Amino acid sequence: MMTKLKLGVLGSGKGSNFVSIQESILKGDLSAEIKVVMSDHSEAGILERARGYGLPAIALPKSQFKTKLEPEIEMEMVRCLKEHQVDWVILAGYMRVVKKPLLEAYPHRILNIHPSLLPAFKGLEAWKQALAAGVTEAGCTVHLVNEGVDEGEILGQQSVPVEIGDTAESLHARIQKAEHLLFPEILVKLSKNNLRINS
Ligand code: GRF
Repeated sequence: MMTKLKLGVLGSGKGSNFVSIQESILKGDLSAEIKVVMSDHSEAGILERARGYGLPAIALPKSQFKTKLEPEIEMEMVRCLKEHQVDWVILAGYMRVVKKPLLEAYPHRILNIHPSLLPAFKGLEAWKQALAAGVTEAGCTVHLVNEGVDEGEILGQQSVPVEIGDTAESLHARIQKAEHLLFPEILVKLSKNNLRINS
């Protein structure tokens, strides 16, 4: 049985993962609809790109914190997701830790993409951590979000080689290419009910 996923996408940056998901929908590969795109930065490229697709693009009120949102702002985010009838929350480069209001509103319904083969290299700039550690294989992971940072159940991973002479930029670019395939792939599985997720 196929489900048409109703997605809400949150992002803080340029939005290339959002684009890969939206393109996969437009091509007819992924049965889903992006109901709303939200960002914690009013200037973020992801909002511009969402508007380019004619999708609702909403900037959240400015937060006084860097790594999380005030509970009131997160509650406003939840209100907005519900208003747009979102069933699944997609963190596509959303750079803040998700807290109770969102976790409780969407239990087991929030997916994140992280640029490492978790559980290795949690946290910021994971590709730099991989390079510094001298590993020969890096990659990306799509996982469910819980109260930990980069810790929820792993839904899928894609590895890429670390090549001799790689810089942080070249490795990150290779990982991002893999991300743009992996995230839509996982969502296709989800829409086909091929993923086992607790509810
Ligand atoms: C990606 O590398 C993702 O793994 C990380 O943030 C980056 C977002 O890039 N969480 P973009 O905004 O989707 O281009």
